Amino acid sequence: MARRTTLVDIGRIVAASTPLVMVTAYDFPSARLAEEAGVDLILVGDSMGTTVFGEADTLGVTLDDIIRHAGVVVHATTRPLIVGDLPFMTYQESAEQALRSAGRLMQEARVQAVKLEGGRRSSEQIRRLTEAGVPVMGHIGFTPQSVYELGGFRVQGRGSAADTLMEDALAVQDAGAFALVLEMVPGPIARAVTKRLTIPTIGIGAGPETSGQVLVFHDLVGLTLGRQPRFARRFADAAGVIREGLRAYAAEVRAGTYPGPGETFPDDDADGATAGHGES
Ligand code: KIV
Repeated sequence: MARRTTLVDIGRIVAASTPLVMVTAYDFPSARLAEEAGVDLILVGDSMGTTVFGEADTLGVTLDDIIRHAGVVVHATTRPLIVGDLPFMTYQESAEQALRSAGRLMQEARVQAVKLEGGRRSSEQIRRLTEAGVPVMGHIGFTPQSVYELGGFRVQGRGSAADTLMEDALAVQDAGAFALVLEMVPGPIARAVTKRLTIPTIGIGAGPETSGQVLVFHDLVGLTLGRQPRFARRFADAAGVIREGLRAYAAEVRAGTYPGPGETFPDDDADGATAGHGES
């Protein structure tokens, strides 16, 4: 019987030199489709601030938002390991705050791991969480919760900043994280970090030589309506398909051809009572 991926499975995938596949998901259909595609991990990311809520950044996402969406993603799936993101200001204050936030995410949404941003500055939080038995995924390089400190959506770790990035990566590993997201880091730097660490790296805009890749669901399926990040390949045109469907619907309603006879209940239809939403 299929069972949920564990940290031991993740270790085995990496040991076999097979790249880890992670994608974000925020709701039932995106999670179910990601599972059907065979991804290893699903991240319920605070990128929902931009992708789902249409905001300019991720800072407005709350712990309750992540808990609600992560609970749906857990409910929709049986196999991928589900990672819940700790939003802005739900762990930065102290290790105690991180423990409280991660505890809610694991107990209420039933995620199997949490992710938080920051290298050395978050190492105490990572240490206390892992000591408490919470699997933690780190995240360094471009960290969206620090977008205003970093001066915008900029590549991180170039030139002399490469040493700082390496120190941050080692701090996250030493604190006990089981994996590390590297976002918008030059390919050669991501390769060097990946070679140096014993935990897997998961790249997004970090080139091909990390232990795995993660993409934001809306970017990869073509649902990002604004600017697409340069590194994010659009593997499908979901917006095009949806636009086409909506236009056809509007045109048929206006032409009086939808609903048709087969889509209208006669008043003596024996099956009519079992043909609604949520019933199969
Ligand atoms: O919130 C998110 O989706 C993320 C990924 C970009 C790694 O942090």
